[in-house]
Amino acid sequence: MNHFGKIKRVFLMVLDSLGAGEMPDAARFGDKGAHTLRSLSQTKELFIPNLRSLGIGNIDGLGFLGTTEAPKAAVGKLSELSNGKDSTVGHWEIAGVVSEQPLPTFPDGFPQEVIDQFRTLTGRGVLCNKPYSGTQVIVDYGEEHMRTGDLIVYTSADSVFQIAAHEDIVPVEELYRYCEMARKILTGQYGVGRVIARPFIGEPSSFTRTSRRHDFSLEPPSETVLDMLKAAGYAVISVGKIKDLFAKRGLTRMIPTGGNVGGMTRTMELVDTDFNGLCFVNLVDFDMLYGHRQDVQGYARALSAFDKWLGDFLPKLREDDLLILTADHGCDPADNSTDHTREYVPLLMYGKKILPVNLGTQKGFTNIAATLADIFDVAYDCPGLSLFGEITEMPKHLANAAVRALRQSYCPYSGFKVGAALLSDSGRVYTGCNVENSSFSPSLCAERVAFAKAVSAGETGFQMIAVAGGKDGVIDSICPPCGVCRQVMQEFCGPDFPIILAKPRLYGKYDEVEIHTLSEMLPFGFEL
Ligand code: THU
Repeated sequence: MNHFGKIKRVFLMVLDSLGAGEMPDAARFGDKGAHTLRSLSQTKELFIPNLRSLGIGNIDGLGFLGTTEAPKAAVGKLSELSNGKDSTVGHWEIAGVVSEQPLPTFPDGFPQEVIDQFRTLTGRGVLCNKPYSGTQVIVDYGEEHMRTGDLIVYTSADSVFQIAAHEDIVPVEELYRYCEMARKILTGQYGVGRVIARPFIGEPSSFTRTSRRHDFSLEPPSETVLDMLKAAGYAVISVGKIKDLFAKRGLTRMIPTGGNVGGMTRTMELVDTDFNGLCFVNLVDFDMLYGHRQDVQGYARALSAFDKWLGDFLPKLREDDLLILTADHGCDPADNSTDHTREYVPLLMYGKKILPVNLGTQKGFTNIAATLADIFDVAYDCPGLSLFGEITEMPKHLANAAVRALRQSYCPYSGFKVGAALLSDSGRVYTGCNVENSSFSPSLCAERVAFAKAVSAGETGFQMIAVAGGKDGVIDSICPPCGVCRQVMQEFCGPDFPIILAKPRLYGKYDEVEIHTLSEMLPFGFEL
């Protein structure tokens, strides 16, 4: 089944670098303990009532932001499949492309063969060739550059090749041509994310950079969902640096901005226009102005300003709109580096047709691409799971919640993992997994664990339950509840109580369900 026509416009907003806590492999990236959102929450500046009412505090591990009883959005957090933590790789993954290798960085400067080729093509010498602050590099090398005409080449902790030149020495158009030459050299193992022209003006003691900075990006290595949407005739509107990250590919309209305020203003204008497709926005200030500069207070104020904007934006959304808020990586402003951090990213999906379910922790930013492909009914194969079924149909949500619950299964004896998700009359979902014991008879089934959790929390009325299970957690057939569990269901639920069985799925690709009633499954239940 597809959801074609249910949603007409998607606003996908990337809050650049708003990480939701370290990923399990963060230590490998030097980011043990990093947590961008937690650092912001420790300031007095953070005031995010709208994000809280959407349910940001209900995301796994973000309870410190304040949980809410009745969230307005479907929420979850996503892990990154790609082997990296930069903006380019993060955005590509959001659009469906996983990068096995991080984009290369050059902490010791670029190799001689790169510099030699660059010299030959441009006919100019090269200064610096080290990681450097962009403002300091013109102070330290600007004069020599003016005297010799050599180009200032520098990098940073990011995957960038930057060329600074004085506009009187190297006209901007010429500088752009040099960047294109560098772009041709910098492919394969030297394929940096961006080549950046950094023109400046002024006298030696007072050089200033101009706004004619220009980015020359690496193209995504394979087709993204943006390419597919564009080819299918949908609008794909970019706001902010999205166009640079995708080297302008897969876009039908590009709206440049100068930072968060510009991005928010343009998006507020777009919400009042008619289009059918995707509006993909990046708000860069969080990362560029606050994350890298380790300005925790500034970051918190910027997020509070976004939250205020959100208060005006949400009421403008139409019946068939979907808002997706997420991030591309972390950049904990309170850790001991100016660099990005390897973190989960938050995911909030809000719309009039969207159920405010908790999506738990999901694998892959690619789930966003898969969701977009599903919504707009374009065939796009990526290692992701469409979340659209689960955020619009409760049985599918419960089936997926049961699949996630089985990850916790304690089953050293059978190796058979079972998960259950039980929806109570109060609207809460209680999950359970099977818990085995060396003396087999005290083993607990997933369904009864879910019931016990719910009943002990004061719940007595239930709407439906989903069950998923399989050897080693692989769901290759439905897993109907055992007789004892059916008997427990009869204790609390009527004959029409729906029992949802997750159908076989390739990892995450398939979320069809089978639904039976309790009376069908337990025709002659025991009663005292
Ligand atoms: N199991 C459940 O959790 N639910 C059922 O309805 C059927 C069986 C578990 C119990 C045991 O840990 C494993 O599956 C193999 O029987």
